[in-house]
Amino acid sequence: MQEVLPEGGMVRKLWIGETAKYREHVLRLDPESRRNRFAGGVSDDFVRDYVDMTTGLDAVVHGFFIGGMMRGGAELRPLGVRFPRQAEAAISVEKPWQSHGVGSALLRRTLLAARNRGFRLLHMACLADNRRMQQLARKFDAELTFDFESVIGEVESSRPTPLSLMREMMSDGHGFATAMLDLQTRMLRA
Ligand SMILES: CC(C)(COP(=O)(O)OP(=O)(O)OC[C@H]1O[C@@H](n2cnc3c(N)ncnc32)[C@H](O)[C@@H]1OP(=O)(O)O)[C@@H](O)C(=O)NCCC(=O)NCCS
Repeated sequence: MQEVLPEGGMVRKLWIGETAKYREHVLRLDPESRRNRFAGGVSDDFVRDYVDMTTGLDAVVHGFFIGGMMRGGAELRPLGVRFPRQAEAAISVEKPWQSHGVGSALLRRTLLAARNRGFRLLHMACLADNRRMQQLARKFDAELTFDFESVIGEVESSRPTPLSLMREMMSDGHGFATAMLDLQTRMLRA
């Protein structure tokens, strides 16, 4: 599956110290997207606490960046020692960047990260009327079996392979190089 993103945009893992970028992104979501993201209406304070907690846990967060701003995010949170092979996944894209392939790119990276960490079950809180998320999950039929009734996605390939580990390493390397180029370009323009 080819990754098509809006021009100038990139997906990469969040670095230490970038919690504020993630928090601001989630706070910018329009009310409907926020409701879909959290499977219900939540306050700004809830969002702040939630993001702080997520980045404090052993979570893998990918961000979609364009023009130096984080406009989309996907997180993979292990459920902890009592459920060692299970994780929670969640995706959000700001409205103007929705339907441009960003959600697909974020889910692809999240599934790869889940696979490489040996997670077999991914939980996604998705409201029954969230057609867009359901369509997105359907695109990954081969890797993800989705049951919207119980809101559980199953990553079918439970074992990481040298190739899947390499794909993640290459994405990380590419993400770092592109971020540096982006920063340099913006510094030159300033
Ligand atoms: C759900 C969400 C993450 C999807 O992200 P996105 O960037 O819009 O997704 P994509 O552009 O990659 O589109 C994925 C698929 O959704 C479907 N889709 C896109 N736009 C759609 C629309 N307006 N209506 C219905 N389906 C749509 C298409 O099948 C598309 O695949 P295709 O382009 O190959 O045909 C995004 O809409 C979002 O952040 N919503 C609010 C938060 C949320 O619902 N999160 C999910 C719960 S965790």
